[in-house]
Amino acid sequence: MHNAAFAALGLNWRYLAFEVDPENLRAAIEGARAMGFAGINLTVPHKLLAVDMVDSLDASAKKWGAVNTVRFGPDGTAGFNTDAGAIVTALREDLNLELRGSRILLLGAGGAGRTAALKLASENVAELFLVNRTVRKAEEVAAEIRIQSPAVNIVVGYPKSDVDLILNATSLGLQADDPSPLDERQFLLKKTRMVYDMIYRPAETNLLAAAKAAGCGTANGISMLLYQGAKAFEIWTGQRAPLAVMRRALEQNIYGH
Ligand code: ATR
Repeated sequence: MHNAAFAALGLNWRYLAFEVDPENLRAAIEGARAMGFAGINLTVPHKLLAVDMVDSLDASAKKWGAVNTVRFGPDGTAGFNTDAGAIVTALREDLNLELRGSRILLLGAGGAGRTAALKLASENVAELFLVNRTVRKAEEVAAEIRIQSPAVNIVVGYPKSDVDLILNATSLGLQADDPSPLDERQFLLKKTRMVYDMIYRPAETNLLAAAKAAGCGTANGISMLLYQGAKAFEIWTGQRAPLAVMRRALEQNIYGH
Protein backbone atom coordinates (compact mmCIF):
# COMPACT_ATOMS: atom_id res chain seq x y z
CA MET A 1 0.00 0.00 0.00
CA HIS A 2 2.89 2.35 0.68
CA ASN A 3 4.54 1.76 -2.67
CA ALA A 4 1.22 2.37 -4.42
CA ALA A 5 0.84 5.58 -2.43
CA PHE A 6 4.38 6.77 -3.29
CA ALA A 7 3.70 6.11 -6.97
CA ALA A 8 0.35 7.93 -6.84
CA LEU A 9 2.02 11.00 -5.33
CA GLY A 10 5.01 10.86 -7.67
CA LEU A 11 7.46 10.28 -4.81
CA ASN A 12 10.63 8.42 -5.73
CA TRP A 13 10.50 6.45 -2.47
CA ARG A 14 10.40 2.70 -1.78
CA TYR A 15 8.93 0.68 1.08
CA LEU A 16 10.86 -2.54 1.69
CA ALA A 17 10.56 -5.40 4.19
CA PHE A 18 13.52 -6.62 6.24
CA GLU A 19 13.60 -9.48 8.70
CA VAL A 20 15.63 -8.41 11.72
CA ASP A 21 16.62 -10.53 14.67
CA PRO A 22 15.50 -8.73 17.86
CA GLU A 23 19.07 -8.66 19.16
CA ASN A 24 20.10 -6.65 16.10
CA LEU A 25 17.25 -4.15 16.30
CA ARG A 26 19.30 -1.26 17.65
CA ALA A 27 21.94 -1.75 14.95
CA ALA A 28 19.24 -2.01 12.29
CA ILE A 29 17.60 1.27 13.36
CA GLU A 30 20.98 3.02 13.44
CA GLY A 31 21.88 1.51 10.08
CA ALA A 32 18.62 2.66 8.49
CA ARG A 33 19.26 6.17 9.78
CA ALA A 34 22.84 6.10 8.51
CA MET A 35 21.64 5.03 5.08
CA GLY A 36 19.27 7.96 4.85
CA PHE A 37 15.96 6.14 5.32
CA ALA A 38 13.00 8.45 5.93
CA GLY A 39 11.56 6.07 8.46
CA ILE A 40 10.56 2.54 9.33
CA ASN A 41 7.63 0.48 10.51
CA LEU A 42 8.14 -2.16 13.16
CA THR A 43 6.07 -5.19 13.96
CA VAL A 44 6.02 -7.84 16.68
CA PRO A 45 8.27 -8.32 18.65
CA HIS A 46 10.07 -5.07 17.86
CA LYS A 47 7.35 -2.62 18.87
CA LEU A 48 8.10 -2.84 22.59
CA LEU A 49 11.89 -3.04 22.24
CA ALA A 50 12.11 0.06 20.07
CA VAL A 51 10.70 2.29 22.83
CA ASP A 52 14.21 2.46 24.32
CA MET A 53 15.97 2.90 20.97
CA VAL A 54 14.66 6.24 19.74
CA ASP A 55 15.62 9.80 20.73
CA SER A 56 12.07 10.92 21.41
CA LEU A 57 8.63 9.39 21.81
CA ASP A 58 5.50 10.98 20.47
CA ALA A 59 2.56 11.07 22.94
CA SER A 60 0.98 8.08 21.17
CA ALA A 61 4.07 5.89 21.63
CA LYS A 62 4.42 6.98 25.28
CA LYS A 63 0.80 6.19 26.00
CA TRP A 64 0.86 2.72 24.45
CA GLY A 65 4.41 1.84 25.43
CA ALA A 66 4.99 0.60 21.88
CA VAL A 67 6.48 2.02 18.69
CA ASN A 68 5.28 0.87 15.27
CA THR A 69 6.50 3.88 13.28
CA VAL A 70 9.89 5.61 13.37
CA ARG A 71 10.77 8.85 11.61
CA PHE A 72 14.36 9.91 11.00
CA GLY A 73 14.62 13.67 10.96
CA PRO A 74 17.06 16.48 11.55
CA ASP A 75 15.88 16.55 15.16
CA GLY A 76 16.73 12.87 15.69
CA THR A 77 14.86 9.58 15.65
CA ALA A 78 11.24 9.84 16.75
CA GLY A 79 8.94 6.96 17.70
CA PHE A 80 5.17 6.94 17.11
CA ASN A 81 2.30 4.52 17.52
CA THR A 82 -0.33 4.58 14.80
CA ASP A 83 -2.07 1.32 15.78
CA ALA A 84 -4.43 2.50 18.51
CA GLY A 85 -5.75 5.48 16.58
CA ALA A 86 -6.46 3.21 13.62
CA ILE A 87 -9.03 1.26 15.65
CA VAL A 88 -11.07 4.41 16.20
CA THR A 89 -10.76 5.58 12.59
CA ALA A 90 -11.76 2.15 11.29
CA LEU A 91 -14.88 1.97 13.47
CA ARG A 92 -15.89 5.48 12.49
CA GLU A 93 -15.23 5.12 8.76
CA ASP A 94 -16.43 1.53 8.22
CA LEU A 95 -19.35 1.39 10.63
CA ASN A 96 -20.14 5.04 11.18
CA LEU A 97 -19.96 4.34 14.89
CA GLU A 98 -20.02 7.23 17.35
CA LEU A 99 -17.90 5.86 20.18
CA ARG A 100 -18.82 8.42 22.78
CA GLY A 101 -21.66 7.02 24.88
CA SER A 102 -21.70 3.66 23.09
CA ARG A 103 -21.91 0.17 24.61
CA ILE A 104 -19.30 -2.29 23.37
CA LEU A 105 -18.64 -5.99 23.91
CA LEU A 106 -14.94 -6.62 23.37
CA LEU A 107 -13.77 -10.19 22.84
CA GLY A 108 -10.11 -10.74 23.71
CA ALA A 109 -7.69 -9.30 26.24
CA GLY A 110 -4.35 -10.16 24.64
CA GLY A 111 -2.09 -7.52 23.10
CA ALA A 112 -4.60 -6.28 20.54
CA GLY A 113 -7.54 -6.56 22.93
CA ARG A 114 -5.83 -4.61 25.69
CA THR A 115 -4.89 -1.76 23.34
CA ALA A 116 -8.43 -1.67 21.91
CA ALA A 117 -9.98 -1.65 25.38
CA LEU A 118 -7.82 1.21 26.64
CA LYS A 119 -8.30 3.21 23.45
CA LEU A 120 -12.09 2.76 23.42
CA ALA A 121 -12.24 3.75 27.08
CA SER A 122 -10.25 6.90 26.34
CA GLU A 123 -12.85 7.75 23.66
CA ASN A 124 -15.51 7.92 26.38
CA VAL A 125 -17.60 4.90 25.55
CA ALA A 126 -20.36 4.49 28.15
CA GLU A 127 -19.93 0.79 28.85
CA LEU A 128 -17.31 -1.74 27.97
CA PHE A 129 -17.84 -5.49 28.47
CA LEU A 130 -14.65 -7.55 28.39
CA VAL A 131 -14.72 -11.27 27.64
CA ASN A 132 -11.59 -13.40 27.47
CA ARG A 133 -10.85 -17.11 27.75
CA THR A 134 -8.35 -16.28 30.50
CA VAL A 135 -10.58 -14.20 32.75
CA ARG A 136 -7.66 -12.91 34.82
CA LYS A 137 -6.31 -11.01 31.79
CA ALA A 138 -9.68 -9.32 31.23
CA GLU A 139 -9.73 -8.37 34.92
CA GLU A 140 -6.25 -6.85 34.67
CA VAL A 141 -7.30 -4.73 31.69
CA ALA A 142 -10.49 -3.71 33.52
CA ALA A 143 -8.41 -2.60 36.51
CA GLU A 144 -6.20 -0.47 34.26
CA ILE A 145 -9.25 1.19 32.72
CA ARG A 146 -10.83 1.91 36.09
CA ILE A 147 -7.75 3.97 36.93
CA GLN A 148 -7.31 5.58 33.52
CA SER A 149 -10.96 6.21 32.55
CA PRO A 150 -13.06 6.14 35.72
CA ALA A 151 -16.18 7.43 33.93
CA VAL A 152 -16.44 4.28 31.81
CA ASN A 153 -18.55 1.48 33.24
CA ILE A 154 -16.34 -1.54 32.78
CA VAL A 155 -17.65 -5.05 33.27
CA VAL A 156 -15.84 -8.37 32.91
CA GLY A 157 -18.35 -10.74 31.30
CA TYR A 158 -21.23 -10.69 28.84
CA PRO A 159 -23.77 -7.85 28.84
CA LYS A 160 -27.34 -8.43 30.01
CA SER A 161 -28.86 -6.07 27.40
CA ASP A 162 -28.15 -4.89 23.84
CA VAL A 163 -24.88 -3.33 22.68
CA ASP A 164 -23.87 -1.15 19.74
CA LEU A 165 -20.81 -3.15 18.78
CA ILE A 166 -19.10 -6.49 19.22
CA LEU A 167 -15.38 -6.18 18.53
CA ASN A 168 -13.36 -9.37 18.05
CA ALA A 169 -9.74 -8.94 19.12
CA THR A 170 -9.03 -12.64 19.66
CA SER A 171 -7.24 -14.79 17.12
CA LEU A 172 -10.27 -17.08 16.80
CA GLY A 173 -11.39 -17.07 13.17
CA LEU A 174 -7.93 -17.13 11.60
CA GLN A 175 -8.44 -20.86 11.03
CA ALA A 176 -11.59 -22.05 9.26
CA ASP A 177 -12.38 -24.62 11.96
CA ASP A 178 -11.90 -22.25 14.92
CA PRO A 179 -14.82 -22.03 17.33
CA SER A 180 -16.59 -18.68 17.44
CA PRO A 181 -15.04 -16.13 19.80
CA LEU A 182 -18.64 -15.28 20.82
CA ASP A 183 -20.51 -17.68 23.08
CA GLU A 184 -24.02 -17.40 21.67
CA ARG A 185 -25.44 -19.16 24.69
CA GLN A 186 -24.38 -16.05 26.62
CA PHE A 187 -25.10 -13.34 24.06
CA LEU A 188 -27.03 -13.44 20.79
CA LEU A 189 -25.77 -11.69 17.68
CA LYS A 190 -29.13 -10.08 17.13
CA LYS A 191 -28.49 -8.09 20.32
CA THR A 192 -25.77 -6.01 18.67
CA ARG A 193 -26.08 -3.45 15.90
CA MET A 194 -22.61 -4.05 14.50
CA VAL A 195 -19.69 -6.46 14.51
CA TYR A 196 -16.07 -5.58 13.72
CA ASP A 197 -13.56 -8.41 13.40
CA MET A 198 -9.90 -7.39 13.61
CA ILE A 199 -9.09 -10.45 11.49
CA TYR A 200 -8.85 -9.63 7.78
CA ARG A 201 -7.70 -12.97 6.41
CA PRO A 202 -10.07 -14.68 5.77
CA ALA A 203 -12.03 -11.65 4.59
CA GLU A 204 -15.17 -13.06 6.17
CA THR A 205 -14.74 -15.02 9.38
CA ASN A 206 -17.55 -17.29 10.56
CA LEU A 207 -18.36 -14.59 13.12
CA LEU A 208 -18.81 -11.95 10.40
CA ALA A 209 -20.87 -14.29 8.22
CA ALA A 210 -23.17 -15.06 11.14
CA ALA A 211 -23.38 -11.36 12.03
CA LYS A 212 -24.38 -10.50 8.48
CA ALA A 213 -27.04 -13.21 8.52
CA ALA A 214 -28.36 -11.73 11.77
CA GLY A 215 -28.69 -8.33 10.08
CA CYS A 216 -25.73 -6.58 11.77
CA GLY A 217 -23.48 -4.04 10.10
CA THR A 218 -20.07 -5.69 9.66
CA ALA A 219 -16.47 -4.85 8.77
CA ASN A 220 -13.16 -6.68 8.93
CA GLY A 221 -9.72 -5.62 10.13
CA ILE A 222 -8.31 -4.55 6.78
CA SER A 223 -9.27 -0.97 7.58
CA MET A 224 -7.17 -1.03 10.75
CA LEU A 225 -4.21 -2.12 8.65
CA LEU A 226 -5.00 0.65 6.18
CA TYR A 227 -5.35 3.46 8.71
CA GLN A 228 -2.25 2.61 10.74
CA GLY A 229 -0.35 2.66 7.43
CA ALA A 230 -1.93 5.86 6.21
CA LYS A 231 -0.99 7.63 9.43
CA ALA A 232 2.61 6.36 9.17
CA PHE A 233 2.72 7.56 5.56
CA GLU A 234 1.69 11.04 6.68
CA ILE A 235 4.29 11.05 9.46
CA TRP A 236 7.08 10.23 6.98
CA THR A 237 6.04 12.31 4.01
CA GLY A 238 4.12 15.19 5.56
CA GLN A 239 1.55 14.65 2.81
CA ARG A 240 -2.04 13.48 2.96
CA ALA A 241 -2.20 9.71 2.40
CA PRO A 242 -4.06 8.70 -0.80
CA LEU A 243 -6.46 6.38 1.02
CA ALA A 244 -8.33 4.96 -1.98
CA VAL A 245 -5.08 4.01 -3.70
CA MET A 246 -3.74 2.42 -0.55
CA ARG A 247 -6.95 0.48 0.09
CA ARG A 248 -6.99 -0.88 -3.45
CA ALA A 249 -3.34 -1.97 -3.22
CA LEU A 250 -3.98 -3.69 0.11
CA GLU A 251 -7.00 -5.55 -1.19
CA GLN A 252 -5.18 -6.63 -4.32
CA ASN A 253 -2.27 -7.86 -2.27
CA ILE A 254 -4.27 -9.67 0.38
CA TYR A 255 -7.30 -10.92 -1.54
CA GLY A 256 -5.84 -10.99 -5.04
CA HIS A 257 -8.64 -8.89 -6.55
P1 ATR B 1 -2.62 -10.43 19.88
O1 ATR B 1 -1.35 -9.64 20.03
O2 ATR B 1 -3.00 -10.69 18.43
O3 ATR B 1 -3.74 -9.85 20.67
P2 ATR B 1 -2.35 -12.43 21.92
O4 ATR B 1 -1.87 -11.41 22.88
O5 ATR B 1 -1.71 -13.78 21.90
O6 ATR B 1 -2.28 -11.89 20.43
O7 ATR B 1 -3.93 -12.60 22.16
C1 ATR B 1 -4.70 -13.58 21.54
C2 ATR B 1 -6.14 -13.48 22.03
O8 ATR B 1 -6.93 -14.53 21.45
C3 ATR B 1 -6.29 -13.63 23.54
O9 ATR B 1 -7.43 -12.91 23.96
C4 ATR B 1 -6.52 -15.14 23.65
O10 ATR B 1 -7.14 -15.53 24.83
P3 ATR B 1 -6.24 -15.87 26.15
O11 ATR B 1 -5.84 -14.53 26.72
O12 ATR B 1 -7.12 -16.65 27.03
O13 ATR B 1 -5.04 -16.65 25.65
C5 ATR B 1 -7.43 -15.36 22.49
N1 ATR B 1 -7.43 -16.75 22.06
C6 ATR B 1 -6.48 -17.37 21.33
N2 ATR B 1 -6.80 -18.67 21.13
C7 ATR B 1 -7.98 -18.88 21.76
C8 ATR B 1 -8.84 -20.01 21.92
N3 ATR B 1 -8.55 -21.20 21.40
N4 ATR B 1 -9.99 -19.84 22.63
C9 ATR B 1 -10.30 -18.65 23.17
N5 ATR B 1 -9.52 -17.55 23.05
C10 ATR B 1 -8.39 -17.66 22.36
